[in-house]
Amino acid sequence: MVTEITTSGAERKMLSEAGYADPAIDYYLEKKYMGHIENADQISEKVGSCGDIMKIYLKLDDEKKIEDIRYEITGCAGAISAAMAAVDLAKGKTLDEALAINDGDVFKVLENIPEKKHHCIQLAVKTMHQGIEEFKSGNAS
Ligand code: FES
Repeated sequence: MVTEITTSGAERKMLSEAGYADPAIDYYLEKKYMGHIENADQISEKVGSCGDIMKIYLKLDDEKKIEDIRYEITGCAGAISAAMAAVDLAKGKTLDEALAINDGDVFKVLENIPEKKHHCIQLAVKTMHQGIEEFKSGNAS
């Protein structure tokens, strides 16, 4: 436990020096929406231009609002923090509302991440949009 605290303290300092604001660091360290959803309504995957991979799991409620989203990510700290922030923005929204979430919205929640990491926000948002689009096209009636 003590080791964990020390490790996260060191990571926090490193990320802060690299240009990550506190909310972005918290999202990265907590990783609260990382993992998969049993019985997901949609699973989609996207590979970024950097080679990083994101897999998204969507769960909808009876009103077709987003009940839960999880990401599995093979990627950088920017990608992880952006994806976690995107989930907080999308939860409880309709599919169309979630499709309207853009990179700027996620950036605002993160407050700041290094400029060279802005494409990681794009990957998180694009992966979410792809999941929603694929769900819609697979469930069109
Ligand atoms: Fe690939 Fe961040 S470097 S998503």
